[in-house]
Amino acid sequence: MKVLMVCLGNICRSPLAHGILESKLPEGWSVDSAGTSGWHEGERPDTRSILEAKKNNINIDRQRSRPVREQDFYDFDILFAMDSSNYTNLCNMAPEEGLKRKVRLIMNELEPGQNIQVPDPYTGGQSGFAHVFEMLDGAINAFLEKHS
Ligand code: 4NP
Repeated sequence: MKVLMVCLGNICRSPLAHGILESKLPEGWSVDSAGTSGWHEGERPDTRSILEAKKNNINIDRQRSRPVREQDFYDFDILFAMDSSNYTNLCNMAPEEGLKRKVRLIMNELEPGQNIQVPDPYTGGQSGFAHVFEMLDGAINAFLEKHS
């Protein structure tokens, strides 16, 4: 299973999702993350994401932001969107109609069909990042349970 975690900037939410799944990754799987924008290309995750991960014994400071590319739709089995804006953008970026089926909203792993959004914590404080971490940890645990 190859999983790509996607948000807008690839500096706040998807680096956390990437780090959380990486910390529990089953053998033979792989995980990466990317942004629907290239605004922060080459940058480290936001310091608040790095801190939140560190509090949970996960190191994400080697990650670097990159934009989603067409090849990702071929290389990955699932592209997880954090919110419906990411979801729509990803669907619009799919190089072939049939590849849109790989795009999913991540919180639907925990609460199927509810279309719950992982809120963008960029303009808020550290507590927003803690909230995002808890949401993503729950969704990723549910995803892993289904595939174990
Ligand atoms: P992310 O958060 O999509 O979770 O990485 C954001 C990061 C940067 C911006 C917006 C959201 N920005 O506007 O630069």
